[in-house]
Amino acid sequence: MDCLVNNKHNVEKIIVATSMTSYGEGNYRCKKCGIVRPEIRTEDDVKTGWEPRCPLCDHDIVPVPTDEGATLNAHSIYALTKMVQEEMILNIGKTFRIPSVALRLFNVFGPRQSLSNPYTGVTAIFISRIKNNHEPVVFEDGFQTRDFISVHDAVRVMEDLLETESAHYELFNIGSGKPITIADIAQKIIDALGKKDIQPKITGKFRKGDIRHCYADIQRAQKILRFNPKVSFDDGLKELITWAQNSESEDHFDRAAQELIDKKLVES
Ligand SMILES: NC(=O)c1ccc[n+]([C@@H]2O[C@H](COP(=O)([O-])OP(=O)(O)OC[C@H]3O[C@@H](n4cnc5c(N)ncnc54)[C@H](O)[C@@H]3O)[C@@H](O)[C@H]2O)c1
Ligand SMILES: [Zn+2]
Repeated sequence: MDCLVNNKHNVEKIIVATSMTSYGEGNYRCKKCGIVRPEIRTEDDVKTGWEPRCPLCDHDIVPVPTDEGATLNAHSIYALTKMVQEEMILNIGKTFRIPSVALRLFNVFGPRQSLSNPYTGVTAIFISRIKNNHEPVVFEDGFQTRDFISVHDAVRVMEDLLETESAHYELFNIGSGKPITIADIAQKIIDALGKKDIQPKITGKFRKGDIRHCYADIQRAQKILRFNPKVSFDDGLKELITWAQNSESEDHFDRAAQELIDKKLVES
């Protein structure tokens, strides 16, 4: 921090990689109330159905894109640290005139991501499981969605930002803008690895704190940064799998799953 305040090293720009996780649940539309933001579901909530309900009138709601104006609802230590990093960097940047930009990354995936760490991307976890002939384990009913963006698209926007002045002290969602279900991802990886005998294991269990849906509204990044994701999910997945097939990956899922049970974050 002292290094930034005095800018001893002549820092020209800071790009901070923050996270969609700080949103909590994404935006939803209620036919009666318009755009609403449900709270994180509790164990009681999911007893009557996986989908969140309108916080105002309790009717059905449908997920819609989440824009940067949505209030943050950080509900984990990681989400809180990401929220604070964003505030710290933009604040110190403005104060000391060091151009800074925050990118709220959605689920970034691609070659060289960690394959053995059971806490990072679901694509990596599923690939290690399926590669090692184990069924991928899907929480809830598999219809929860996430927004995946290729590492190439995420890196390109960072490179472009180094040369863009109009984005200083702004924050942007960086995602594909398209939701995909977790069950679909499991099946696509099974198909791509040609493991016809493996079926996703849909557990019907709730992992405490998990959101149901959140996908990016990328209009602001499109307009100001000319952000235009080029890698489709299917192409990105093919590339990830090709790379993963030549990389060592240990399947640590069972250990991570047991930890969730021991800490009462998922039912046994
Ligand atoms: N991967 C995602 O989907 C995603 C989503 C939202 C935000 N982010 C953020 O993007 C950043 C990178 O994420 P990732 O998934 O590539 O993580 P990663 O763990 O794969 O890579 C992090 C890298 O940072 C290096 N590192 C850690 N501490 C360091 C230090 N003190 N000095 C220099 N290098 C250090 C590590 O060795 C590692 O190479 C993180 O800040 C993460 O919170 C990632
Ligand atoms: Zn309503």
